Amino acid sequence: MCGIIGLISEQEFTLKEAFMKLKKLEYRGYDSFGYYDTEILIKKTGHIDIPRKNKKSKIAILHTRWATHGGVTDYNAHPHQSCDKNITIVHNGIIENYQELKDDLIKRGHKFRSETDSEVVAHYFEEKLKTKSIKESCVDFINEIKGTFAVLLIKKDENRIYALKRDSPLVLGICNNKNILASDIYAFSDISDEAIFFENDEFAIVEKDNYMFFDQHGKKINKKIQKFLWEQEESEKKKFRHYMIKEIMEEPKVVKRLLFSFKTEQKSNFNKFIELIKKSKKILFIAAGTSYHASLLGVYYLHECGIEAQTLIASEFRHFATIDKETIVIAVTQSGETMDVIDGLKYAQKKRAKIISIVNVPYSTIQRMSEVSLNILAGQEVCVAATKSFVNQVTILLAIAKEFGFKINLDTLAPRIESMLKQENKIKKIAAEIYMKNDIYVLGRGLSYPVAREVALKIKEISYIHAEGMMGGELKHGTIALIEKGTPVIALISNKDYDMLSNAKEVEARGANVIKVANELNGDINVPTSNDGKFGVLAAIFGQLLTYHMALERNLPIDKPRNLAKSVTVK
Ligand code: AGP
Repeated sequence: MCGIIGLISEQEFTLKEAFMKLKKLEYRGYDSFGYYDTEILIKKTGHIDIPRKNKKSKIAILHTRWATHGGVTDYNAHPHQSCDKNITIVHNGIIENYQELKDDLIKRGHKFRSETDSEVVAHYFEEKLKTKSIKESCVDFINEIKGTFAVLLIKKDENRIYALKRDSPLVLGICNNKNILASDIYAFSDISDEAIFFENDEFAIVEKDNYMFFDQHGKKINKKIQKFLWEQEESEKKKFRHYMIKEIMEEPKVVKRLLFSFKTEQKSNFNKFIELIKKSKKILFIAAGTSYHASLLGVYYLHECGIEAQTLIASEFRHFATIDKETIVIAVTQSGETMDVIDGLKYAQKKRAKIISIVNVPYSTIQRMSEVSLNILAGQEVCVAATKSFVNQVTILLAIAKEFGFKINLDTLAPRIESMLKQENKIKKIAAEIYMKNDIYVLGRGLSYPVAREVALKIKEISYIHAEGMMGGELKHGTIALIEKGTPVIALISNKDYDMLSNAKEVEARGANVIKVANELNGDINVPTSNDGKFGVLAAIFGQLLTYHMALERNLPIDKPRNLAKSVTVK
């Protein structure tokens, strides 16, 4: 949440070039945005609006905000400045002891202009600099601040950017004649494939042609430059109206690429992954949101092979997980930066569990915390809603389950997805019938239960319709009271699951408008597979297309739904 960028260059860059970089991080939050280059300061609410001014600079920091402390106002937008305007900062994270620091700084005469926790950072440095050097102040900051931060700081009279990190992601992109600091590699992956990833409690002083890294004691450290692979062309929207539909349509391609990688570049990691699972006494997944639904499918598939596994929602992991050194914890995540997952993994590390992961963004924090990590290889997903990354997460989990005996021919998965996508027009008609409804219920049993939850989540976040994804069998224990004449109920029925059919009948008898998504029987949507594993993926794709078309009918901001951000880096 929140994206930050720092640019420092030999040659001048335009305001437009700087903002184009920020645009690449807009998916991290789009409540407000800001810019500072030692001469001008811009702070505005709303989606990033590239200024028309013909202004050039050699240094700048930028920010795109997902609000936590303080409402969505121009004042609360970053950058924030010290009273003397000598220090300007952008921040991603949460300063937990900000109130205490703020009270102290106010006593010392500082005047605050915003309601944010972040503004204390600027005043903190202003105060420290009265008695200490900037480097000493950075050391104090790391040792005195409680909470999480990726901070970029410019001191007006200096031509350098100070960068400090704990828990919030921060990376330095090594580019020709310039250095770029950013929340993630997307900001510069079009011009460089080399980066240095900050670890916790490190800081750096970055100049146009030089950089120095330090640990929390101010001791200089040598950092390794990492080369990363990224398929840049995929992040362009091209002919599509929205990233969401572009990303859904890429699903067959990314599935093929992923499966091919298991025979080639990911072969050895895949084998290690399987070995580690085999050796462990207990298998525990950890994930959030859509990734949690994928992991729940993973649990189902393993269970079908007689392998005991569980999954826990990351934000509750600490409260419900019993783990020891013989446990393997498998993190499933698109961004690799979800704070709830990181927090759960830290807990698992303390208990000495082994950590492995399934991650889309290479070199992300979670990937770097893992003993082995499998790349999801979905390419950049720009739309806030996870679509193709979910499909590839499930594909990985199916490939893993197959190693334990799950029956599936993965070679036909991509063609089946293509057939599912061809039903778009049929799905569009269903969307047109129900997009004005206030509530939608999605029912599943067994493997289709996680999918029901995933479809409901997609409906909520993209179409803004209240939806509940439920176990078909649980409905009669209460929720059925809400079913009225015409209430849309989507029933996911795999392989003539008679119990699920009965649940559909029960709501039909009470006047619900039942939409059957089924194979092996005549449904409203026929899922082109007889395999349970593939049914899960294909039924979820039905949900993605349904949601997309309902949101289109409702004229909603599909790629950037309100209040959300793609990478959830706060607890
Ligand atoms: C999905 O559409 C989401 N917007 C969200 O639930 C997401 O899946 C969740 O925040 C987890 O993210 P991750 O996969 O990057 O860890």
